[in-house]
Amino acid sequence: MTHRVRSTTTRPGAVRPRSAPGRPRDLAPPDDQPDARVDRPRGNQVEHPPTDTDRTAGEHTDTARPVRMTVNGQPVRHHVEPRRTLSDFLRRDCGATGVHLGCEHGVCGACTVLLDGRTARSCCTLAVQADGGEVTTVEGLAQGGELDPLQEAFWRHHGLQCGFCTPGILLTVTEFLAENPDPSDEEIRAAISGNICRCTGYQFIVDAVRSAAAVLRGEPAPQAPVDREG
Ligand code: FES
Ligand code: FES
Repeated sequence: MTHRVRSTTTRPGAVRPRSAPGRPRDLAPPDDQPDARVDRPRGNQVEHPPTDTDRTAGEHTDTARPVRMTVNGQPVRHHVEPRRTLSDFLRRDCGATGVHLGCEHGVCGACTVLLDGRTARSCCTLAVQADGGEVTTVEGLAQGGELDPLQEAFWRHHGLQCGFCTPGILLTVTEFLAENPDPSDEEIRAAISGNICRCTGYQFIVDAVRSAAAVLRGEPAPQAPVDREG
């Protein structure tokens, strides 16, 4: 009579469930059988459990803090959890969904806003840190239904494709041109080096910034692709 010995090897890449405390290890289900203790996503569904900040946004909990700030010229008062990011606050509590979220750890620049006139990564800034400040998002650039010169230049020079990076780049360049109104192409490239664009290849963005700088200096707008297209 032969006895089969169950293999203890694990498939490459498989996560072997750990035995429950006090449970003999050889009673753990084999690797090729479902284990009810493991909460696996089904199909393409990826579940994002609500975070503390989701549950308490705007609520007067014991830990919520009052904040006041100006967002695109409008006074805002709210209660936020201390851990709530400025990006979540702007998007969810203020409706400023032009604040885009890419990496959410300070690398891509998509979430860039102006805080008291200086660029800030809103994914890495807490809402409570902006208390008392003045915030500008992309929604605050156009005035009276008219694109501002930088937005106009991005349109005229095809400086965007999917547009995901565009709000962050517009605000980065807004600060940049205020400090350097007549930049070289090299300086423009350095200024936007912290904003990742996966579509344009950057050349049209550089063209747009150069054009906007000229317009803001009171010079005629350089010819753009839209002029040639009629
Ligand atoms: S989302 Fe903030 S830097 Fe990428
Ligand atoms: S236009 Fe698509 S990421 Fe920049």
